[in-house]
Amino acid sequence: MADPNLDNREVLLDVQHLSKSFVAEANFFGRPTSFVRAVDDVSFKIHKGECFGLVGESGCGKSTIGKMLVGLLQPSSGKIIYEGREISSLPTKERRKLSTDIQLIFQDPYASLDPRMTVSQIIAEPMITNNVLPAGQIDKRIDELLDRVGIRPELKNRYPHEFSGGQRQRVGIARALGVNPKLIVCDEPVSALDVSIQAQVLNLLDDLKDDFGLTYLFIAHGLNVVKHISDRVGVMYLGKLMEIAPKNELYHKPLCPYTQALLSAIPSPDPHLSRKRIILQGDVPSPIDPPDGCRFASRCFAKVGACEVGAADLREVLPNHWCACHRYTDVKPDNILKTARDIQYEAARPTYGFGGADANADPISPDPDTPEEAAAKGERLPE
Ligand SMILES: Nc1ncnc2c1ncn2[C@@H]1O[C@H](COP(=O)(O)OP(=O)(O)OP(=O)(O)O)[C@@H](O)[C@H]1O
Ligand code: SF4
Ligand SMILES: [Mg+2]
Repeated sequence: MADPNLDNREVLLDVQHLSKSFVAEANFFGRPTSFVRAVDDVSFKIHKGECFGLVGESGCGKSTIGKMLVGLLQPSSGKIIYEGREISSLPTKERRKLSTDIQLIFQDPYASLDPRMTVSQIIAEPMITNNVLPAGQIDKRIDELLDRVGIRPELKNRYPHEFSGGQRQRVGIARALGVNPKLIVCDEPVSALDVSIQAQVLNLLDDLKDDFGLTYLFIAHGLNVVKHISDRVGVMYLGKLMEIAPKNELYHKPLCPYTQALLSAIPSPDPHLSRKRIILQGDVPSPIDPPDGCRFASRCFAKVGACEVGAADLREVLPNHWCACHRYTDVKPDNILKTARDIQYEAARPTYGFGGADANADPISPDPDTPEEAAAKGERLPE
């Protein structure tokens, strides 16, 4: 289960000012003429044993971050510091040695497993490549791993197409666990599964985290999926981190209008309860030429002139609560107030994805520092 007491935990992963641009267009001579700024100056830390949820709409850069962490993509700039050592600039050979420590579980369990290999071969492959165990012990380990992820070891000689989506995702998890990783990047591991199966796989991942002493970066589209499993959550929009907070704080005191919109989009399981949904108007800007100001300004219901002039830095506006919004505290329009209250009213009810809020607390009056007070604490990157 999620643990809010992270302050004393060691930092496992420290991402500093990470950016990644892809070439969007090139001229006749192959020279790049425009770039997609997929990830733009993103910083966050993940503590040992923590599950850090990363959410945001499609195309905001979540998978690009995940791929940089596991070494599938090279950052354009910034640092990835793992166990105190900068790994983003390591030569390929050195980086490969670390590949067992940081594993990736893919979004699509249909596409991520080689259809020509049996389940046994799929799980054995990374163990053999990385010399994790003597050859004679691998078969026994495969049985143990399959049993642990809820698949009968007798089925290990079958092919991926003989399994359901949920079972295939379990095979993908067993494969990742085989090399004894410390950090697992779970890239939307349940989004391709039926809702009924999603909860089972989420529970499995939650149990494995404790059993194997794992740390997760858990990527998802919506806040409902990461609510159960995460300790802290980061909200991304168009390549930028907009807000980072411990999960209870984020769900009950969202400061950024975009986070509020994401929260309002969580479907209510009770048809008698209506949630005021924030319908975002306006277009998502192109990541090829993103605006100078706040990336969310073209759709933000709370924007002011300053938002289009310059983006707010991601700052610690409350203890452990980071927000990149000019208006996180100074103006509270009616629609934000209403929405946050509606959300909190429902949050007080024990429903899937939302539970245990204090219905009497004011969700949007967290008594934050003024910007000046926060600035006086000095600039630092998100914990
Ligand atoms: N190899 C690539 N070449 C060019 N552009 C890319 C490449 N990979 C990603 N992009 C672009 O980078 C941006 C971020 O993509 P990314 O896949 O990281 O988003 P995402 O948040 O994971 O989206 P989704 O939720 O749909 O998986 C998108 O605009 C995407 O089109
Ligand atoms: S900075 Fe402005 S545009 Fe951006 S989220 Fe905050 S209020 Fe909205
Ligand atoms: Mg993705």
